[in-house]
Amino acid sequence: MQFPAEPFRIKVVERIKKTTREERDRLIREAGFNVFNLPAESIYVDLLTDSGTSAMSDYQWAGIMLGDESYAGSKNYYHFEAAVKRIFGFKNIIPTHQGRSAENLLFSVALKEGDIVPNNIHFDTTRANVMHKHGVPVDLAIDEAMDPEIGHPFKGNMDPAKLERLFQEVGAERIPLVMLTVTNNSAGGQPVSMENVRAVSAIARKYQRPLFIDACRFAENCYFIKEREAGYARKSVFEIACELFSHADGCTMSAKKDGLVNIGGFIAMNDDAWAEKAANLLIVVEGFPTYGGLAGRDLEAIARGLEEVLDEDYLAFRIGQIRYLGEMLHKAGVPFVRPVGGHAVFLNAKAFLPHIPRQQYPGQALVVALYREAGIRAVEIGGLMFGEKDAAGGEKFPELELVRLAVPRRVYTSMHMSYVADSIIDIHKKRDTIRGLRLIHEAPLLRHFTARMEEIS
Ligand code: F0G
Repeated sequence: MQFPAEPFRIKVVERIKKTTREERDRLIREAGFNVFNLPAESIYVDLLTDSGTSAMSDYQWAGIMLGDESYAGSKNYYHFEAAVKRIFGFKNIIPTHQGRSAENLLFSVALKEGDIVPNNIHFDTTRANVMHKHGVPVDLAIDEAMDPEIGHPFKGNMDPAKLERLFQEVGAERIPLVMLTVTNNSAGGQPVSMENVRAVSAIARKYQRPLFIDACRFAENCYFIKEREAGYARKSVFEIACELFSHADGCTMSAKKDGLVNIGGFIAMNDDAWAEKAANLLIVVEGFPTYGGLAGRDLEAIARGLEEVLDEDYLAFRIGQIRYLGEMLHKAGVPFVRPVGGHAVFLNAKAFLPHIPRQQYPGQALVVALYREAGIRAVEIGGLMFGEKDAAGGEKFPELELVRLAVPRRVYTSMHMSYVADSIIDIHKKRDTIRGLRLIHEAPLLRHFTARMEEIS
C-alpha cells in the first residue's frame, strides 16, 4: 500500500485551535512577518520542525515513570547504552542533551584550527560547530542534490570523487574526520545509499581517517535503502541500520528526531582516546557521563524510542504520510523538491512565486501566506536563512529558495495532511496576490530567527 493508515490509535489528545484570518493577520504583523516570533498556541498545524516535536508512545511514557534519578550509574543509563549499542554498535556511548552538543564535543576533541570537515551537506548546527572550533566545513553532495526537479533514488549521497579530490588537494593531515548526514536534511531529507556509505567509508579508511555519521534520521534513511536499493528488500530495517553503522567509526545523534523523544542525543565512537576526552569535556559542559544533561527518565524514553522507530509498520506509515502530502500537491501542480524526502516536503518558492524577486524573499513571503491564510507554520530555507552580504552591501543568495513543511512523528493524522495540501493548493491558485517582504531588522548571525520584516505594497 502506498499510503498506509496510522499504525497506532490515540489515547491522549491535545487541543489545537483554529484562529480567524483577521487574528492571524494581526499576529503575523506583530511578529514582524517572522513565524519564530508567533505564539505557538496561535498555530493550527505546526510544521516548523520534526525535531523534539514527536508524540511519545504509552510504552515510552510508562518508561518515564521508571526514571532512576541517581547522579551516577542510573539503571536507565544502562538501558540506554544497551539500546544504542544494539543498533549502532560503537564501543563508547556518551549521552548529551541534544544533537548540537554531541557535535560540539566531537569537534572540540577532533579539530585544530584550519582543519577541514567534509560532509554530504552539513546541517546548520554542524556547520556552526565546525566553524566555532575554527574548522572549515566543506559540502560534497552529488550535483543532483542542488536540482529540485531531478529524480534520484539517493539524492542525499556524497560524491566520492569529490571526497577523493579533496584528500588529494589538501592532504589527510588537514582532514581529521569525514562525516555523512543521513538523511541529508539540507538537501530535502534525501537518503544516502548503502553503496555510497561503503564508498565514502573506503576512502576514509584509505586515508586512515574515521567516518562519523550524523545519524538524526537513520531509521528513515534505512527504510529508503530497504525500499530502493538492490539487495536490501528482504533485510529488516534493523539489519540495514546495523550494516550502515558497521561502515563507520562513530556517530552524533539528535534523538529529537529518530529517537522519538522531545529532548536528548548522544555521541558514540570506537576510539577510546577521543571518547575519554569527550567524556571529560562532557563533565564540564553537560554532566556526568551516565546522564549527560538528561534526566534518567529521558534516557529510558530514548532507549524505548530507538526500539520503536525501527518498527517497519511505523516507518511505512511515516514515509507514506509525507509521500501522501507530496502526492496531493503534485496532482495540483504545486512545485516542490522531488522526490519527497523522509521528514518533510520542501516547496520550491522560486517556482511557486515567480513574480517575487529574490531580494524580496519569496520563500518567507510564502511562509507568511501559509500562516495568514491557513494557520500553518513552515520554515524558509533560502535567502533569509542563508543570504550573505557582498562587498558592495548587496546580498548574495543561495541557489535554492525553499519552504520546508517538516512533519512531526505520530502527531498529525492524514486528515491534517489533507488540510495542509488543500490550503497550499488554494494559496497556489491565488499566488499572484502574495507580496514580497523587506528586511527592517537583522542580527549579524543566524538572522532568520530574529529578523523583522515588512510587506512591500
Ligand atoms: N543534524 C541534523 C541533520 C539536524 O537536522 C539537526 C537538527 C541537528 C544535527 C542538530 O540537532 O537540534 O538536537 O541540536 N535539526 C532540526 C531541524 C533543528 O529543524 O531540522 P539538535
